[in-house]
Amino acid sequence: MINIVISLCVALLLARCTPLSVLSAAASGDAERGAQIFTQGWADAPACSTCHHTVTGQYGFSIGPSLAGIAERAGTRVVGMDAAEYLRQSILEPHSYVVSGYRDIMYPDYRTHLTEQDIEDLIAYLLTL
Ligand code: HEC
Repeated sequence: MINIVISLCVALLLARCTPLSVLSAAASGDAERGAQIFTQGWADAPACSTCHHTVTGQYGFSIGPSLAGIAERAGTRVVGMDAAEYLRQSILEPHSYVVSGYRDIMYPDYRTHLTEQDIEDLIAYLLTL
């Protein structure tokens, strides 16, 4: 029993350390959990909602572009990238593509804080917007 618990812990640790691949296709995200990470932050990384609105006409200032309707826009941003790939890149490598009219000041270290599952959950949530 102890062995099983130890193997599970090692497996979890390894999974946590697996490098995030920027271009691997989105698989099975949990949009509800993604929404939670978006609004509350996770693992010492700031909440996305600090800088992004998600509803058209949302009141108040935001540093980043509104993500209302991003599910449709995402697939049109970079030639050859579908929506999920673009969203993944936007989170892990925000410098790669800077939205016109905005500065390159998105928090750059999500890749060191979030797990593969966290990213999948965020993408699943963003695809509902
Ligand atoms: C410190 C502020 C800040 C935080 C925190 C932040 N962003 Fe951003 N984000 C920006 C800015 C500024 C841009 C526009 C510049 C660029 O494209 O990098 C942007 C761009 C984006 C884009 C591209 C939007 C488009 O229209 O193509 C996506 C998607 C995105 N962010 C998602 C996220 C997600 C998901 C999180 C949380 C995991 C997050 N951002 C956290 C500031 C932030």
